[in-house]
Amino acid sequence: MAPTLKALATSLFAGYAAARQCQTLSIPVDISSRQGVFKKVPVETNLDASAFATRFNEFQYNYTAELFTGFQTLQKSIKISAQYCTPDGGSNGIVQVLSHGIGFDKTYWDLSYDDYKYSYVNVATASGYSTLAIDRFGIGNSTHGDPFNEIQAQAEVEALNEVTKKLRVGSISEISCSYEKVVHVGHSFGSVQTFWLSALYPNNTNGVVLTGYSNAAEFFPYIVAGWNLHSARLNQPFRFGNASATGVQALAQQYGVQGDIVPGLTAILNKIGVDVDTEEVRQYVASTEINDLINGYNHTIFQYNYPSGYFAHSALTALQYAFLFPDQFDVGLAVESEKTKQPVTAGEIMTIGNAPKVSQFTGPAFVITGQYDVPFCGGNCYGQAQNITAANIPAGVKTAFPAASAFEAYIQPNTGHGLNFHYNATAGYQIIQDFLGRNGLST
Ligand SMILES: *[C@@H]1O[C@H](CO)[C@@H](O)[C@H](O)[C@H]1NC(C)=O
Ligand SMILES: *[C@@H]1O[C@H](CO)[C@@H](O)[C@H](O)[C@H]1NC(C)=O
Ligand SMILES: *[C@@H]1O[C@H](CO)[C@@H](O)[C@H](O)[C@H]1NC(C)=O
Ligand SMILES: *[C@@H]1O[C@H](CO)[C@@H](O)[C@H](O)[C@H]1NC(C)=O
Ligand SMILES: *[C@@H]1O[C@H](CO)[C@@H](O)[C@H](O)[C@H]1NC(C)=O
Ligand SMILES: *[C@@H]1O[C@H](CO)[C@@H](O)[C@H](O)[C@H]1NC(C)=O
Ligand SMILES: *[C@@H]1O[C@H](CO)[C@@H](O)[C@H](O)[C@H]1NC(C)=O
Repeated sequence: MAPTLKALATSLFAGYAAARQCQTLSIPVDISSRQGVFKKVPVETNLDASAFATRFNEFQYNYTAELFTGFQTLQKSIKISAQYCTPDGGSNGIVQVLSHGIGFDKTYWDLSYDDYKYSYVNVATASGYSTLAIDRFGIGNSTHGDPFNEIQAQAEVEALNEVTKKLRVGSISEISCSYEKVVHVGHSFGSVQTFWLSALYPNNTNGVVLTGYSNAAEFFPYIVAGWNLHSARLNQPFRFGNASATGVQALAQQYGVQGDIVPGLTAILNKIGVDVDTEEVRQYVASTEINDLINGYNHTIFQYNYPSGYFAHSALTALQYAFLFPDQFDVGLAVESEKTKQPVTAGEIMTIGNAPKVSQFTGPAFVITGQYDVPFCGGNCYGQAQNITAANIPAGVKTAFPAASAFEAYIQPNTGHGLNFHYNATAGYQIIQDFLGRNGLST
């Protein structure tokens, strides 16, 4: 018997964005942020970017203080780009607001790779939640700005707070309801901002989930070094830079690559007489900066046109060091992530450490960090960090939430910093939904 249309549709879309409806929005917000004014230093070239990292990482030296000239109040009308999803069966009335970390954008939460097998949004919507994943202020399709004096942590927290206020009163035009309960979920720098929001505006969140996070500060220089920072514009010229620039145009025409990056690279290498197959390319070539150059010269890709002062980690090897634990991820997904990566600004690097130390948030708070997390655990969450007396490093976050109705920390096994990219990611997602359910945040 021929399959019914419905059965056919079901099999076609099996695993593909199964049971949710999503749309992309652009949310206008006005922010007012009390933040630093920094003296600008050269950031045009890759050597400049690398020199910035060298100075920033100097042991027992505060480069941020050297560049700090005073305070300003940044007032700006901006747009926050977001993906809003609701479960097909209707929402439980709670929205999870998802803030990505450095190197990523809102797609971190809804990775399309391998039929959405790694999608956090799929797991959250399957548990009944609506989700709103934002591009942080300055990144992706949200408003960009001056990388020293506008795109700083505090401004991004203000933007997150304003978006949340709009969700509560139902004033986002494309969203037909208002949400009384908002859970904030972050990853890495997005967790820093989620924590920060809970400290400044404790009434504006009902639940806090910090992934890839701890309150140990001493490991940040590891990834600032490990990123091997380049100027974003030069690292992926066409995608991060300005496609109208003549030199870039000429190079793009020379490459003329179309299609998936790995066959594309194979074709180029074969053309110039190098005899390789796609598997060799996947293993040996796609992990080099050639991968970024080709992606950057693909003229059909959307151009972000970031100014100098936006940096990017150099290549797939830097991505692995900072975010992925060896052998615990699909290299194809990592190649995809390198292709869609996002930058970090000088201002973000200088202000990420300025979060309040304590939050008086009174609802439930959860921390989940990969066992081998580099930036927040130095590669071993069971190690002993400075000034942390808890059983493990993530558990030390408890001291930052003295008023929380519940606090739990969880170490996700066999996982590095970028939790969503590891084979076992969805089991970790379920641990988060279970925590929310146990703590009155499922209806
Ligand atoms: C470095 O200096 C900045 C700016 O004065 C300050 O906000 C920050 O707390 C200092 N960092 C450390 C670790 O002392
Ligand atoms: C930004 O918008 C462009 C054009 O619509 C799209 O190709 C790209 O995927 C978007 N990026 C993000 C992070 O939403
Ligand atoms: C925030 O919550 C506290 C404690 O419940 C309450 O005293 C305060 O009025 C609230 N503030 C706002 C702005 O709702
Ligand atoms: C640990 O605590 C000491 C004393 O308060 C402080 O000087 C030092 O900066 C702290 N170290 C870290 C990594 O927070
Ligand atoms: C992009 O490059 C073109 C050609 O060099 C130049 O005219 C234009 O001003 C550049 N745009 C930006 C935003 O840098
Ligand atoms: C170039 O971009 C197009 C559209 O996004 C995409 O389909 C194609 O795979 C890309 N080519 C390479 C080599 O990444
Ligand atoms: C996968 O994650 C779940 C939830 O944290 C954990 O119980 C399980 O042991 C993990 N499996 C492996 C192989 O790491």
